[in-house]
Amino acid sequence: CVGYGLYQVLQKTPNLNAKIKKICVKNSSKTRPINKENFIYDKNEILNDGTIDTIVELIDDAEEAYYIVKEAIIKGKSVVTANKKMLAEHLEELIYLQRKYNVSLLYEAACCAGIPIIRNLEEYYDNDLLEKIEGIVNGSTNYILTNTQEKGISYQEALLDAQNKGYAESNPILDTGGYDAKYKLIILIAHAFGLIIKPENCFHLGIDRLGELELNYAKEKGYKIKLIAYAEKVNDKTVQAYVIPKFVAKTNNLYSVDDVYNGVKTSSYFSENQFFVGKGAGAFSTGSAVISDISALNYQYKYEYKKFNNQLKIENEKCEVKVFIAYKNQYDKFIKLNCNKIYETYQNTSHSFLIGEISLNSLKNIICENQNISIVGID
Ligand code: HSE
Repeated sequence: CVGYGLYQVLQKTPNLNAKIKKICVKNSSKTRPINKENFIYDKNEILNDGTIDTIVELIDDAEEAYYIVKEAIIKGKSVVTANKKMLAEHLEELIYLQRKYNVSLLYEAACCAGIPIIRNLEEYYDNDLLEKIEGIVNGSTNYILTNTQEKGISYQEALLDAQNKGYAESNPILDTGGYDAKYKLIILIAHAFGLIIKPENCFHLGIDRLGELELNYAKEKGYKIKLIAYAEKVNDKTVQAYVIPKFVAKTNNLYSVDDVYNGVKTSSYFSENQFFVGKGAGAFSTGSAVISDISALNYQYKYEYKKFNNQLKIENEKCEVKVFIAYKNQYDKFIKLNCNKIYETYQNTSHSFLIGEISLNSLKNIICENQNISIVGID
């Protein structure tokens, strides 16, 4: 999807000093809009071609992508990739390798497609003291949430639509389960705060548990539910970070970020609050971010990771969040025991909800214990 998007965007960018030499695809029997003669099926034909100086990696298999990207860097080729899962899982090693082999590894398309957020975090916020970054970073879930909450379309139908439009991952659990948003958050945190977090150390919850109770609550209070990626530097040494669906009020800029659009809010010491918005998924918006990286290679642009000596670490044990918890009545005692503060409770014949404060660790415990427990964060 993105590969074809890039192909089309490249045709319309005649001034760019870049030519596609070889296109490698996996499946030779798949019907594609580009003629078959354009394709090769063995990645080594590209990796071992000394006349190719740049590899653009746009596949969805993160393990295979890791192999290709690593090999390309070791062979002295620059790499442009959109593979957020691969980057989040191997960022430290890949940064080490790109420095060792003195090549560029660029990945603007991996986060929020059409929003140039990585380059801004890296360059514009080079010296400004970023305190917080928060946003909607997954287009598919935002598309599903907009369509289910505002247009009355069913969850399954909206998901199918997001898949047909090329927004969702091949395995859509990555989107709906909050994994994709977490991978992007990890990349954003590396550029915002100079901290590399392992995916297993960052809390995430997707939209796949949301039910009637919380959707009705949102409607009644005039909120929208959005999947929010959040990271905040809470002091000189620590960052707290998570991905969680949240109630978003009309006064919040993210309220009006709908459909496949993404939005990112930054808070920093000098420039205060800023808000970026743009299309977060799809062939053209992602393709255009890839083109921008290819173009930056013309002047040997590299991320410098200047904030990496900040000596920060992630600390979620002490992170408390205010949440709406919807659950079946039999879990009442268990849920209440896990909350540190309770502000409001409600019970009908079968279901309950409460609004309270809970640590991220306890939140992890209660969602592991039962699939029917649903959580929505409150600001
Ligand atoms: N599946 C991703 C999304 C694609 O929906 O945001 C863009 O990264």
